[in-house]
Amino acid sequence: MNTKYIDLINQTFDFPQDEFKVDKGQLHFHDIDLMQLTEQYGAPLKFTYLPQISNNIMRAKKWFADAIEKHDYKGKYNYCYCTKSSHFKHVLNEALKNEIHIETSSAFDIDIVERLKEEGKITNDTFVISNGFKRAQYVTNIARLINNGHKNAIPIIDNYEEIDLLSQEIDGKFNVGIRIASEEEPKFEFYTSRLGIGYKNIVPFYKSQIANNKKVELKMLHFFINTGIRDNAYYWNELLKCLKVYTSLKKICPTLDSLNIGGGFPIKSSLAFDFDYEYMVDEIINQIKLTCEEEGVDVPNIFTEFGSFTVGESGGAIYEVLYQKQQNDREKWNMINSSFITTLPDTWAINKRFILLAVNRWQDSYERVLLGGLTCDSDDYYNSEQHMNAIYMPKYNKDKPLYIGFFNTGAYQETIGGFGGLQHCLIPSPKHILIDRDADGNLTTQLFAEQQKSEDLLNILGYGIENKDTRIKIASLSENVT
Ligand SMILES: Cc1ncc(COP(=O)(O)O)c(C=O)c1O
Repeated sequence: MNTKYIDLINQTFDFPQDEFKVDKGQLHFHDIDLMQLTEQYGAPLKFTYLPQISNNIMRAKKWFADAIEKHDYKGKYNYCYCTKSSHFKHVLNEALKNEIHIETSSAFDIDIVERLKEEGKITNDTFVISNGFKRAQYVTNIARLINNGHKNAIPIIDNYEEIDLLSQEIDGKFNVGIRIASEEEPKFEFYTSRLGIGYKNIVPFYKSQIANNKKVELKMLHFFINTGIRDNAYYWNELLKCLKVYTSLKKICPTLDSLNIGGGFPIKSSLAFDFDYEYMVDEIINQIKLTCEEEGVDVPNIFTEFGSFTVGESGGAIYEVLYQKQQNDREKWNMINSSFITTLPDTWAINKRFILLAVNRWQDSYERVLLGGLTCDSDDYYNSEQHMNAIYMPKYNKDKPLYIGFFNTGAYQETIGGFGGLQHCLIPSPKHILIDRDADGNLTTQLFAEQQKSEDLLNILGYGIENKDTRIKIASLSENVT
């Protein structure tokens, strides 16, 4: 009988895979010997394998280039990176090696764009697409970028006031896009997304606020489907509705020449992941072309804003199983030396699934377990709810440490988890390692951040502040109190 963990994985999945291999009972990810990494830096640790960012950008660019050629599509394709999925400089530095553009979502994002411009990584030719609900600081920052000559900045109008707010601060003429508020999937709690302007209101909005406005040119129509780009009736239906708005607008707005289909490319969340990216891109280009032909308008340039797809598959987390608690005859809890809630918050918040594999002991027999985090919160666990199937791991043995890895965790987990900030139950953020390849293709590692220390957390909590009285007396308030 095949009872080893390696047999289980081989029988359940098509294994090994491009990025996962096993050598002498230990897992390698993109040829990184994960046990060696763990021995060098210690667990828990998080890592970013930077080359995967460029790999994915190049893959997507190729799918679009192939589809554009096949359909003799006359528009251009522009890959934008959605910075909110990971704002780290090392991520942007890697992504920007690939002639891409940027999508921003808030005021401080523009400060990042300006920093990258100072370093020559972004130029005035780089499209900066600014999404999000725009309030004073964001408007001011976008205006500053445009006033300083960034001709390819395109703020995407999200509500009816933004054109006025931007016009007050931008010196000359400027380009805008409009975001369509998509209809949510039927099972959602509400019908229409709060982001953007409803389908029916787009053409009237254009006529009343843009058509006769000498300062503003409409360049882009933007739409983003919350549930992502999927081959289902809902997605294709929403795309067609959006294309109808595009063609109606195009007939009355000659400056409109771009369609932004947002983010939402899925990433590999299991070893059984199966998504035909090439087919989806091909069909999207085909649908856009057909609709434009039917309506007799020129096809648009296409923009995407992939966040997860750009950076998700570069990240991973490794934990040590500290101890096993058998709470009844069926439930064995493998306790990890960190917290799921704080280090992989999407597992807790939206039941998100990541690839989970043992890092070592693949030649050992396995058992069914639940995985528990270190906080005292009963929701700090990872189990079959997220994982779909039961979790099997090499059998716990207190004399043979077990390390487990979560993969493709590179998007959103640091920002949502508040990297370097306060943590639930004060369980510190793990150290973070950057992995790259040098000019000869050799792997390099670099410590990006140490594991949080007690004083880091205590400082945030106010214990680091000197004990001097800095209170300001509110004079008028105390005078009025009789
Ligand atoms: C406007 C917009 N564009 C792009 C993205 C990126 O989505 P994803 O990370 O699924 O590619 C988001 C994510 O929320 C978004 O709101």
